[in-house]
Amino acid sequence: MDRLILQTVKHLEDLPTLPSVAVEVMGLSRSPDVSIKAISACIHKDPPLAAKVLKLANSAFYRRGAHEIETLHRAILMMGLNEVVNITTSVSVLSSLGPRKSQEQGLRKKFWRHCIATGLIARRIDTRLHMSLQGREFVGGLLHDIGKIILDEYFHDQFMQAHALSLERQCPMFEAEQEILGATHMEIGHFLAQKWGLPPYIADICLHHHHPQDARFKDITSVVSIADLLAKAKELSCGGDTMSFILKDQQGWHILKKMGHPMDSIDLERITFEIEDIGEEVKEFISAISDQEAQEHAHV
Ligand SMILES: [Fe+2]
Ligand SMILES: [Fe+2]
Repeated sequence: MDRLILQTVKHLEDLPTLPSVAVEVMGLSRSPDVSIKAISACIHKDPPLAAKVLKLANSAFYRRGAHEIETLHRAILMMGLNEVVNITTSVSVLSSLGPRKSQEQGLRKKFWRHCIATGLIARRIDTRLHMSLQGREFVGGLLHDIGKIILDEYFHDQFMQAHALSLERQCPMFEAEQEILGATHMEIGHFLAQKWGLPPYIADICLHHHHPQDARFKDITSVVSIADLLAKAKELSCGGDTMSFILKDQQGWHILKKMGHPMDSIDLERITFEIEDIGEEVKEFISAISDQEAQEHAHV
């Protein structure tokens, strides 16, 4: 049954689709001479999406100045085109994958909390190492595990079996998925990212976040892989010592060190301390992307 699941996913007709505006914005952003006006006009074609983008731009996570950003045009001026395109991509993928019919709502909530925490921690690592990944590390962290949503949605029982097996054996989820389903969330996520035309670095992160040495975009995939581990460690309430030991043994850590990033100068105690506080940011992010609250946000 080896590649059966992957083949089945490839033939699923009712796989979620990305909002057409998001596809258009990603296409526009690849053009070197795209104007602010063209991007903001494009996002405005989808008012709920525009409302969510603006709400996120005003959240503590993205907000740059003291004043509220009232228009998308202003958001692009303040935050830069890349960051607004990043937000649009994140919000679009989340709205396509978010409100699904999963029976395990608790697990789904936990899943998104993990993804948002991974994005937030990736952003802290980028800042600390002065890597200037320009928000791509956040989007990559947010979307690294999207393959799990598809497995949960379309192969729910087997996915739950894999979840139970990984707990029982204390093995990584992808090993259990391979055994039960014959494919991993990395392959499925990569397939979906490519099908949706998401930027190549996102597809790469989806496929390689557990083995960043195989990635094409090694720097950003390594950042996301470390952030993924820290997010998991936080959920499990590991102590700082254990974490630093684990992290320094990780592929992502070695790759970044080899690239010349000052890994030893990273104060792990401080990162650990900072991510203790991440729960509030995660909550704010969730509230910013939820439909109801975004629609209440009037200035679009
Ligand atoms: Fe994963
Ligand atoms: Fe993960």
